[in-house]
Amino acid sequence: MKEAKTARTEIKTVSWNRRTFFEMLAAVVAGGVAIATPLVAGVVTFLSPLLKKNTSPKVRVALLSQIPDDGMPRSFPIVADHVDAWTKYPEQRIGSVYLVRNKGEAEPIALTAKCPHAGCFIGYKPGDDLFRCPCHTSAFKLDGSRERGDAEVAPRGMDRLPVELRSVASADDNEAVEVWIEFIDFQTGHKEAIRTA
Ligand code: FES
Repeated sequence: MKEAKTARTEIKTVSWNRRTFFEMLAAVVAGGVAIATPLVAGVVTFLSPLLKKNTSPKVRVALLSQIPDDGMPRSFPIVADHVDAWTKYPEQRIGSVYLVRNKGEAEPIALTAKCPHAGCFIGYKPGDDLFRCPCHTSAFKLDGSRERGDAEVAPRGMDRLPVELRSVASADDNEAVEVWIEFIDFQTGHKEAIRTA
């Protein structure tokens, strides 16, 4: 009789212990979820600028009337908002572009002035028939291709940027045509043009 009572007590203790354990486990899990949810949300919000893909800005560069079809390169600064991971810097100069419009062409080609070798500013002197990089003497024809092909230090020609013409009404009610480009930043040192972001 005494043995049977002891056995019942043990069974009761075991089942109480098991229930208590699962209740505590559930409480711990619920508490963990309650703490982790805002924590994860905070970390995601903090890191979201880093996770965002950089898009290349579309920039109004000039009026088409500023680029006669004489095949001569004209340099224009690229001014746009610059955004790094957490900060936005409005109206920054982020690069330069050459616009070249050949005889009879409706729209110019756009070549970024950043050298594809190591990123120096490629120069152009009016009247010259080549672009020249002052850092390691690479030279480029006026269509952006390398003057001496693979013999140049630069691994590829100057990078071309997409051009778009937009018609707008001017102040005197005439139509003006604006030249817009997509300012893509490319990595240097590669044979292929690879976007930086
Ligand atoms: S950076 Fe232009 S040739 Fe080296």
